[in-house]
Amino acid sequence: MRRVYFDNNATTPVLPEVLEAMRPYFSEHFGNASSVHHHGQETREAVERARESVAALIGCGASEIVFTSGGTEADNLAVFGVVREGDHVISSSIEHHAVLNSSKYLQSIGCEVTYLPVDGRGLIDPDEVRRALRPNTKLITIMTANNETGVLQPVEEIGKIASETDAYFHTDAVQAAGKVPFDVKCIGCDMLSLSGHKMHGPQGVGALFVRKRTRLRPMLWGGSHERSRRAGTENVPGIVGLGRAAEMAKSALRQDEPARLNAMRDQLEQKILTEVKDTRVNGQGAPRVPNTTNICFKGIEGEALLIALDLKGLAVSMGAACSSGAIEPSHVLTAMGLPPDHARASIRFSLGKQNTNEDVEFAVGLIAATVARLRELSPSP
Ligand SMILES: Cc1ncc(COP(=O)(O)O)c(C=O)c1O
Repeated sequence: MRRVYFDNNATTPVLPEVLEAMRPYFSEHFGNASSVHHHGQETREAVERARESVAALIGCGASEIVFTSGGTEADNLAVFGVVREGDHVISSSIEHHAVLNSSKYLQSIGCEVTYLPVDGRGLIDPDEVRRALRPNTKLITIMTANNETGVLQPVEEIGKIASETDAYFHTDAVQAAGKVPFDVKCIGCDMLSLSGHKMHGPQGVGALFVRKRTRLRPMLWGGSHERSRRAGTENVPGIVGLGRAAEMAKSALRQDEPARLNAMRDQLEQKILTEVKDTRVNGQGAPRVPNTTNICFKGIEGEALLIALDLKGLAVSMGAACSSGAIEPSHVLTAMGLPPDHARASIRFSLGKQNTNEDVEFAVGLIAATVARLRELSPSP
């Protein structure tokens, strides 16, 4: 059966070049990167090369990169690394659960958190950030791109506001890294999270950019790995893979891969909107990463559509992978003002490097037929 994968915001396939780069570090080059002997030096060099590649992708110094076990750990390290009891935090209502649930935990230990709302397009108003500031605001944590809608937040404006205060600014760029060009200096952030498996690297590895002189308390205590910011023997194959994925992403950004994905995404979106009635794009009118569209199919149970499409070979998703299967409608879509039944009728399509125009044709035909069948079975009132 033909299978098309449009769930690249959940995870992406590892590129062959990335796999090739990683392979020797499972076998021939097996040393502990902290060992003094030849084997250790070999892997240490590979880790430091990867650090430079990741730093080059986001425009920071190599020493400002802390390798982690993924985006979730990077987000947790940013939040718990700087906030203490009694501090105030500014975040948003559409963050990934890695930030949202960390903030909820902070509230349980005596911190105050302001969750900024978004407008109908899913955008945060930077003026709201300014208005929410307090003398004890320690951290502003606002994502760069939303995982469900792809909407890009005005992080540069928020960075400017943060720079006029004593608060740190962290941005979760897990869904932006490798998809759109950016630079930590332009954003003006103190910390930025990214994750390997969202950019055709391996799962279980990520990084946190920590600007020099940021007073970060580690979450993991042990050896002095990662300049004492994250203890534990490095995941060398994973880090090497992340480094190679960052190099590949940087060169794809230069070769206009975003424009190719953007054209494919727009084609998918336009065809669905014209061929399937009662559909609308969630996040329409806002700047978005080029690979994502989130579409509401009115009167449809999203879960039923997702399963029906999967049976025919098309993999899509209903927002965050970790909350799929939950009865709760998406917190992102409801924050944008969608009624619960419209949020439950929404599907995320996220394209990747491996997708082609033929995949789009295949998907559109399947979606139109499947939605028509589901609507026939359960005509809306
Ligand atoms: C915006 C965002 N932040 C954080 C994460 C968590 O990253 P990881 O899966 O590497 O822990 C994800 C994953 O879906 C994400 O989309």
